[in-house]
Amino acid sequence: MVHRPPLHGQRTHVEFIDIKEQYRRYKSEIDERIQRVLTHGHFIMGPEVGELEQALAKYVRVKHCITVSSGTASLEIALRALGVGPGDEVITVPFTWISSAEVVGLVGARPVFVDIEPATYNINVDRIEAAITPRTKALLPISLFGQMPDYSRINEIAARHNLPVIEDAAQSFGATQNGSWSCGVTAIGSAAHSAPTSRPIAYSASTATAPPAALSSVSASW
Ligand SMILES: Cc1ncc(COP(=O)(O)O)c(C=O)c1O
Repeated sequence: MVHRPPLHGQRTHVEFIDIKEQYRRYKSEIDERIQRVLTHGHFIMGPEVGELEQALAKYVRVKHCITVSSGTASLEIALRALGVGPGDEVITVPFTWISSAEVVGLVGARPVFVDIEPATYNINVDRIEAAITPRTKALLPISLFGQMPDYSRINEIAARHNLPVIEDAAQSFGATQNGSWSCGVTAIGSAAHSAPTSRPIAYSASTATAPPAALSSVSASW
């Protein structure tokens, strides 16, 4: 039997995600910018929104970034922008935050689940093609725990079937794959501000992508 010394009532409290620490680290810059907003009074769509959108687009190397109210909203808007609606199918995974499948239902379409790989928890790319039907309107893979699925293969499959790919990058903002940045690897990328499992480099991001020639954009919520 292993002998464990008594803890003497001491407990270590480890927070799941410590947003306060991020604030402490950048306190003076954050305080200064918030003060500036309070001073100019443009609380809705003020100049900081455009500044943030430009900074995010530059960071993930895409042409456009549109900020919206949440990662969930950015996914829903991406689907609507692609014309996905009742009678359509969207291929996604069953292992993710609920939003990824929820938004498909919200626009009246049906989520079609492709299982994940046990080693990465990402979509099993080998199984995507078998799930494509004439009703499939988009692929919605998830980049989970900071890790992206193989987007070169996913984009190849999508191109073969003339389907747009939306990357839900709520948990992978700051990740790269073959030199490309998460949120910038598909037609639309979507990112959210506080997914706890995202990389600490920033907040989390989910991206939705449109067919490469049409638009390269990031929709993000911060
Ligand atoms: C994979 C994934 N997609 C979408 C979202 C939705 O983002 P939000 O909570 O900003 O709506 C999250 C949030 O945690 C997420 O982890």
